[in-house]
Amino acid sequence: MNNNWLGLTDKVVAITGAVGGMGTKFCEEFAKQGAKIVLIDMIEDKTQAYAKKLAEDYGVETLAVKCNTTSEAEVDAAVKAVTDKFGEIDVLVNTAAILRFSPFEDLRLDEWQTALNVNLTGYFLMSQRFGRVMIQQKHGAMVHISTVASRYPETYSGAYSTTKAAVNMMSKQMAAEWGQYGVRSNCVLPCLVKTPLSKNFYSDPEVEDGRKRLVASRRIGTLDDIANTVLFMASDRSDYTNGGEITVDGGLNMMISDMIPKPGGRRQYAIDNHQPAKK
Ligand SMILES: NC(=O)c1ccc[n+]([C@@H]2O[C@H](COP(=O)([O-])OP(=O)(O)OC[C@H]3O[C@@H](n4cnc5c(N)ncnc54)[C@H](O)[C@@H]3O)[C@@H](O)[C@H]2O)c1
Repeated sequence: MNNNWLGLTDKVVAITGAVGGMGTKFCEEFAKQGAKIVLIDMIEDKTQAYAKKLAEDYGVETLAVKCNTTSEAEVDAAVKAVTDKFGEIDVLVNTAAILRFSPFEDLRLDEWQTALNVNLTGYFLMSQRFGRVMIQQKHGAMVHISTVASRYPETYSGAYSTTKAAVNMMSKQMAAEWGQYGVRSNCVLPCLVKTPLSKNFYSDPEVEDGRKRLVASRRIGTLDDIANTVLFMASDRSDYTNGGEITVDGGLNMMISDMIPKPGGRRQYAIDNHQPAKK
């Protein structure tokens, strides 16, 4: 059996938000593939410690970079640190983002601007500066973690959905301009995933069951589900996918029709299974 089907061994993979719920998992899964991992996050001590642990656990080279992705100077310094150590950058996974809840009518300008800054400008700066290196090398893959909420508004989440919708378009623009240089840009759109951040939502079994009913695949997503897709999109195995939006939501966004009450006893899974059948 070919254990290196993805061909990620020795690839230089930079991951932002590296010590967050998803980033931690992505770093580990790329390390399992034998990739060289560049961990980028604002939380310096945690990032250093995790880089050390990955190197020990998986015998891979790692580099911890403390970087605020909204700072041009810090992003440029991160690019320099990576190219000084590894000479190239094969993969960039943009993960660092924030979600702050607020009814739209109460959203303050500074909250709006902060979300735009981290979720959109941060992705832009990382993509442009790491992308310049990829253009020079004439190869590279970028995977941007977006969300299904980029297509359907996440109510009361302030600017979150707007920023992620913009990320989807930014990714397409880079794909269109940089495909000619061998640089690909794709978005992964997760939804209903159990992460350290969202696990409280699932502590109530009724909430978990209610959510499962709305998903075509009838289960809540896991970090493995997202990481597997990210690794595939980062690898040459997805080489002809460029400018894509890959949903990883168990088919949740296909279910809108199933949620609409229908006459005449037409079968509906989400609703029929929520209420006891009428005798
Ligand atoms: N958790 C979910 O269920 C879910 C669902 C859909 C999409 N997403 C997306 O997945 C991504 C990761 O989510 P998560 O649950 O891991 O979040 P998280 O809050 O656990 O992790 C985010 C990480 O990003 C870092 N970070 C934040 N701002 C930064 C900045 N300016 N510069 C550098 N680092 C910064 C934080 O320090 C943290 O380590 C986000 O893009 C989010 O929109 C998450």
